[in-house]
Amino acid sequence: MPERTFKDETAIVTGAGQGIGFEICRLLALGGASVILNDMDIELGRKAAAAIRKTGGTCMDYGGDCSDPEFIGNLVRFAVDQTGRLDIAIGNAGITLQGEFLSFTPESFNRLVQVNIAGNFFLAQAAAAQMKLQQSGGTILFTSSVTGHLAHRNLVPYGMTKAAIEMLAKTLVIELSQFKINVNTVAPGATLTERTMADPEYEKKWSAVIPTGRAASTADIANAALFLVSRESKHITGQSLLVDGGITCICSSPY
Ligand SMILES: NC(=O)c1ccc[n+]([C@@H]2O[C@H](COP(=O)([O-])OP(=O)(O)OC[C@H]3O[C@@H](n4cnc5c(N)ncnc54)[C@H](O)[C@@H]3O)[C@@H](O)[C@H]2O)c1
Repeated sequence: MPERTFKDETAIVTGAGQGIGFEICRLLALGGASVILNDMDIELGRKAAAAIRKTGGTCMDYGGDCSDPEFIGNLVRFAVDQTGRLDIAIGNAGITLQGEFLSFTPESFNRLVQVNIAGNFFLAQAAAAQMKLQQSGGTILFTSSVTGHLAHRNLVPYGMTKAAIEMLAKTLVIELSQFKINVNTVAPGATLTERTMADPEYEKKWSAVIPTGRAASTADIANAALFLVSRESKHITGQSLLVDGGITCICSSPY
């Protein structure tokens, strides 16, 4: 992708103090966007934005819990106050709570719904309202997961939330195409991030079962995300781009 593709555009990315979201912010800033980096870990977000600014990009942190609709409203207002506009909204924050189906607690279930579904719904709502006002279109992207497409053990509610945001993207096509806003998801498979690498076996175990022989890097996911929020993909909407080394193409077989 050519450099400075995102010149004069403003982007919000949630849950971006580390991992996939951070890499998306870094590449967007490198591409010329003004980036608003959100993380609920305020210190982590501050350091992440400072690291991106050091490389010459424009990046401001706005810390807080993006599952709170009131906070989301403030986040969008901050972007507009700072840069005068909003062109790209990326709902990347998501929590992964594993647990056996038979003993999964209501507290964990509700938190998953709040962060993974409500956070993205209200980000899309607030961002789209601003984009409609600007009358110049816009783009919305959610970070979904292969778990929103295929069943995984001990991830029942997580998989439900990721499937829900796949449907959110599709349904928003009806609501937002009239305003020239496209909405897509990027669906990562196993990806090497600070969080997943906390398990020393993670990389080895996933590399053994992924057809391409390796887990994804954050750059693998971020490059796909950048394409989906770029001007080059304006005619793509309601789609899910699986970045998974082919694992969702194969089925377990007795042969
Ligand atoms: N890493 C993977 O293997 C993988 C695979 C599939 C999907 N995903 C999805 O990708 C996204 C990013 O995952 P990751 O592993 O890169 O990041 P991560 O789990 O390390 O989280 C990134 C940041 O999000 C922040 N965060 C969490 N909840 C938040 C909230 N309510 N408000 C604001 N910030 C919040 C955390 O503080 C953290 O710094 C998630 O939606 C995740 O479900 C990741």
